[in-house]
Amino acid sequence: MNRHSCPQAAHPRRVTVIGAGYVGLTASVCFAALGHRVTCVEHNPHQLRRLLAGEVPIHEPGVAELLADGVGGGRVGFTGDAGEAVPGSAVAVLCVGTPARPDGHPDLRQIASAAAEVAAAATGDLVIVVKSTVPPGSCEAIEVIAAESAPAGVRVTVVSNPEFLRESQAVDDFFNPDRVVIGSEDGPAGDLVASLYPATWPLLRCDRRSSELIKYASNTFLALKISFANEISGLCEQAGVGAGSVLAGVGADRRIGSSFLAHGPGFGGSCLGKDLTGLIATADALGSPAPVARAAAEVNRWARGRVIDRLEAIAGPVTGQRIALLGLAFKPGTDDVRDSPAVSIAEGLLARGAHVSAFDPIASEPKLGGIECRDAYAAARGAAAVIFATGWPEFGLLDLARLSGAMSGHLLFDLVGVVDAPAAAAVGLELETLGRGTPTSFHPVVVPPLEWCLDVAIA
Ligand SMILES: NC(=O)c1ccc[n+]([C@@H]2O[C@H](COP(=O)([O-])OP(=O)(O)OC[C@H]3O[C@@H](n4cnc5c(N)ncnc54)[C@H](O)[C@@H]3O)[C@@H](O)[C@H]2O)c1
Repeated sequence: MNRHSCPQAAHPRRVTVIGAGYVGLTASVCFAALGHRVTCVEHNPHQLRRLLAGEVPIHEPGVAELLADGVGGGRVGFTGDAGEAVPGSAVAVLCVGTPARPDGHPDLRQIASAAAEVAAAATGDLVIVVKSTVPPGSCEAIEVIAAESAPAGVRVTVVSNPEFLRESQAVDDFFNPDRVVIGSEDGPAGDLVASLYPATWPLLRCDRRSSELIKYASNTFLALKISFANEISGLCEQAGVGAGSVLAGVGADRRIGSSFLAHGPGFGGSCLGKDLTGLIATADALGSPAPVARAAAEVNRWARGRVIDRLEAIAGPVTGQRIALLGLAFKPGTDDVRDSPAVSIAEGLLARGAHVSAFDPIASEPKLGGIECRDAYAAARGAAAVIFATGWPEFGLLDLARLSGAMSGHLLFDLVGVVDAPAAAAVGLELETLGRGTPTSFHPVVVPPLEWCLDVAIA
């Protein structure tokens, strides 16, 4: 994708983007490809230095190409100072972090200070666009903060425009949105934000609270689809059937769909868990029950915890054993380890006294204390078991004979469905997966009770 193969916005504008993380950097280069002139403000000096040198500090396919194109065409620039970027901009797009607080509510300090900064730097009327994920009512509060910081005579209006991109396919998602949600009670401000996007894109206009809640509810629904898949996976283990084929059969129903209906070590990343707890905290604050969302969170805790329990049930206590972990990123295609199930499994193993070695093609987590190895074979050296925790496609191409030769044991525990079972068996490796019980897991006359069947037959 470049500027020439990309649809163009109806009105090229000067745009300030605040924050050059996964969302802000992607939005910056994509807005530039749509024809806008973008200045992205990043206050982390290390990240800013790399961006000014033309480097991309995150792993996100397609961003480097769009960045080179945008910088080369003079349509993307970076600064650490909102005061340099905002004057002359029609809009300031906030893409700063909204991490979870211990009580489940999001920490909105970054967004409050970003709103105050851009408002203070405005030299004319400004529309602040909130792309960060925030609970309902936030844009109204942000507007109050911005109005207090704006110079006299400058009118600041806040519009909600939540971001739905997925890391590892962020550029593709930006250019092929299912919907672009624009929440505004101010018609002209909403129109201005709509004009940032090509007129042919599916725009969904609503009020700000609805827009904010669309984002929260969407991520909660994705989280509960994964948790539902994991609940069914546990049931499959007890019933002695394969969760993969059961979930494929369920997902084939177009009313349900197979996307996100995947079992494994649970959901992770910077968004699903945070937005789920954010929705629950919001519901609690408003006195509205949220039992379904709570259950999704509870099942996710169980899905993570069952991994080590199962490993110990097969291989005995992990204390003192060397266990190799393949994958640290929360999903393949990204270097993001925030709330990664793989990292929490590593922490759980270390807490139980295992010796852990790990490898990920691009992700790294220094807080695990130097357990990372240069490749999968080095990680497997001397390991009693190898856990496949992130579904990197290259893990499916490993030389299993070489992996087996490096290990001291012969157990592969594949949580993400990348290992070829016949290939593992061919080199004498035992393959364990989730959601696959033995047909003898339960006695068929026990469920349903035989008497119940007989009663029905007699009736
Ligand atoms: N990551 C995703 O997949 C994703 C998808 C959709 C929505 N979101 C939401 O978008 C928001 C941003 O997410 P992210 O993953 O890009 O976060 P991130 O932490 O990767 O990036 C935020 C960036 O903003 C910078 N920043 C913070 N305050 C600043 C300021 N005042 N001036 C300049 N820079 C500032 C930080 O240094 C950081 O680089 C969050 O609310 C998140 O929930 C994220």
